[in-house]
Amino acid sequence: MSRDIVLHAVSMLFHGREADLLALDKVDLEIPAGRFVSLIGPSGCGKSTLLRLIADILKPHSGRILLGGDSPRAARLARAIGVVFQAPTLLPWRTVRQNVELPLKIVGSAVARGASPDEMIRLVGLEGFENALPHELSGGMQQRAAIARALVLRPRILLLDEPFGALDEITRQRMNLELLRIWAESGTTALLVTHSIAEAVFMSDEVHIMSARPGRITGTVPIDLPRPRDLAMMRGREFFDCVNKVRDGLFGYEGIPGPVPVEAF
Ligand SMILES: Nc1ncnc2c1ncn2[C@@H]1O[C@H](COP(=O)(O)OP(=O)(O)O)[C@@H](O)[C@H]1O
Ligand SMILES: [Mg+2]
Repeated sequence: MSRDIVLHAVSMLFHGREADLLALDKVDLEIPAGRFVSLIGPSGCGKSTLLRLIADILKPHSGRILLGGDSPRAARLARAIGVVFQAPTLLPWRTVRQNVELPLKIVGSAVARGASPDEMIRLVGLEGFENALPHELSGGMQQRAAIARALVLRPRILLLDEPFGALDEITRQRMNLELLRIWAESGTTALLVTHSIAEAVFMSDEVHIMSARPGRITGTVPIDLPRPRDLAMMRGREFFDCVNKVRDGLFGYEGIPGPVPVEAF
């Protein structure tokens, strides 16, 4: 199977006033085309940095990134990458349709492969809200609109940085199911950053585990649950086994928090 996202020995150094910070240390990653893959790790381990490098928002200090054989810059210019961020990034004075069609307006009619904004709005389940303004929508609906906007140019790669982090648990589960349906219909390669173990397992074909600073990929857990996924699977033995594997990868086999030493009291 072809590799859609390849990182080879990617390091990222941020220059600080006092000292430099090694945010990513020789990260190797290969994601086959069409997969749904998650990246999980503690806060500050470099997940967003990794996504920004792939999206060509940042340049790596060293190492190589290839997206379908192209550089991130070439992939970005070819509109092959869609990004959804955690914070709402819709323009508040524009309606849902105007937000979703914005990327089409920016690239102009030169890109023939773009979807119609209304088709994308239907795909994310926002029909009837085309003329609503972002403040009239719930948080979950705003993220649906952001996903529609990210997909309107039919990118091959969809990068999602904790897109549902601000939502309540029930809305989040519904959005996860929706996102899987949208991913299956759109045929993109999806890379999801999350710090929820259950979410990573539920969504993914593979979960990559990152360590705290400097960020490294320390393990990969394949998730062999059948697709399409449904919430009932989260109660099954197989799901539980995968969750434990990711947990062990993150915290070590002892698990944390460990027994509290007596002298702590
Ligand atoms: N633009 C930046 N300049 C300096 N340091 C940064 C910058 N972006 C991120 N960092 C630092 O790099 C590390 C990784 O950050 P980030 O990728 O946001 O982590 P995560 O998304 O896993 O929480 C953190 O220590 C953060 O403070
Ligand atoms: Mg982050």
